[in-house]
Amino acid sequence: MTLLSPTWTAILYLVAAVCFILALKGLSSPKTARRGNLIGAAGALIAVVTVFLSSRLENVPWILMAIAVGSAVAAPVARRVQMTQMPQLVALFNGVGGGAAALVALLELGHADEPWVRVAAVFTLLVGAVSFAGSLVTFAKLQELMTTRPVVFPGLPVIMGAALLAAIAASVVVVATGSAGVAVVLLVLGLATGVLLVLPVGGADVPIVISLLNAFTGLAVAASGLVLGNVLLLVAGTLVGASGTILTRAMASAMGRSVAGILFGAFRGGSTAGSTAASDRPVRSSSPEDVAVLLRYAQKVLIVPGYGLAVAQGQHTIAELQAALEERGIEVAFAIHPVAGRMPGHMNVLLAEANVAYESLKEMSEVNPEFKTADVALVVGANDVVNPAAKSTPGSPIYGMPILEVEEARQVVFLKRSMRPGFAGIENELLYEPQTTLLFGDAKDSLAKVLSAVKAL
Ligand code: TAP
Repeated sequence: MTLLSPTWTAILYLVAAVCFILALKGLSSPKTARRGNLIGAAGALIAVVTVFLSSRLENVPWILMAIAVGSAVAAPVARRVQMTQMPQLVALFNGVGGGAAALVALLELGHADEPWVRVAAVFTLLVGAVSFAGSLVTFAKLQELMTTRPVVFPGLPVIMGAALLAAIAASVVVVATGSAGVAVVLLVLGLATGVLLVLPVGGADVPIVISLLNAFTGLAVAASGLVLGNVLLLVAGTLVGASGTILTRAMASAMGRSVAGILFGAFRGGSTAGSTAASDRPVRSSSPEDVAVLLRYAQKVLIVPGYGLAVAQGQHTIAELQAALEERGIEVAFAIHPVAGRMPGHMNVLLAEANVAYESLKEMSEVNPEFKTADVALVVGANDVVNPAAKSTPGSPIYGMPILEVEEARQVVFLKRSMRPGFAGIENELLYEPQTTLLFGDAKDSLAKVLSAVKAL
């Protein structure tokens, strides 16, 4: 006897599935993202409670203990994580999802009699294992526990091909015979493939690979829904698989790259990580007071936020600067590049935290024609997303990436700490142009100094 009838179980699963869809819809705009997140969490809670009430579970104390341990580890980590470390947290959570799906499949293979259930279980096992191991490598790269440069060695493509072929052969054997021993071999091959797939990816592309692995986990979970006969897992996994795929494609195209190029580019020698050395060519630098004068006498200022603003945690100071300029009758807007920062929506979330009005945030296509009429483009901790090499230098790692056309503004001011390049590791010629001036220092300190100088004028 279970507490919930199959009809009520189906109804509650439907409610949870609708919550997941509404959550995705909510997450598509900063205004509704918080609510979307809560709706998604509520859906997940309904799903878990429904499983408890609708199935005859064994080992309930163990299950509850596992949930308690998982929550005790995940909740404090999620609360304490810095915004700039969010991609690695997502990688870790994603990997755990893929690993869980793989383990479920491994156990279910033991009593899967029908061939199509074995096909689904083998798929879950392999893709879940790839996602688990790949996600751990992306975590290690982003956390700088290992080099962020592409790791390639002679024979890597051959080893990769051999691992894939062996995985396909092992899959066929497991489907045909249900052999538990070969299933374990398949798990190991999946783990090896995951590691080999991510090792050659350079640091700048790792967030895209996280999104791709997220899509893999979704597919593995969807297939585990088939194995377990659980409709909700099928729906939720498909949603994650589809949204992860769309996000991967959107991120890749915003960076002017193809997904295949990201995964296999390093095999062809096209490394994605460049230099981190600072250039010593002369540039024009100014004081906070000079920058304040430029801003104070401008009619229109476009601010370009980037990764450095997030590192410096300068979002509140930049919001104050915007307010101070607007009080003085100056038109101010933020130009948001889709891949500014290190994760999708990074700048929107950062600025929303400082209560910058959504109406002040302008997307790239909307704001680019406006640089021509801007008196000052204030680039705060951004580099690659304003680098004209993306348009003018074929062969550059960012060639083809759409950029914010700050070079069109009358004056360009960069706030950064040094002459080190951005994430792609390439020089930005705009730093040396006559209309450009640099204010060196931590973005938050520089912004605070400019703000007080503006107020003093
Ligand atoms: P970057 O090109 O990485 O430039 C960041 C700049 O901030 C650097 O020039 C750095 O120069 C400066 N900076 C760092 N810390 C600072 C601080 N505390 N104060 C002041 N300046 C500081 O960033 P971006 O323009 O935002 O471009 C994003 C990059 O990430 C692109 O290459 C993009 O392709 C990549 N990426 C993004 C995503 C997503 S979805 N957002 C995903 C994958 C890859 P100094 O060291 O001299 O200060």
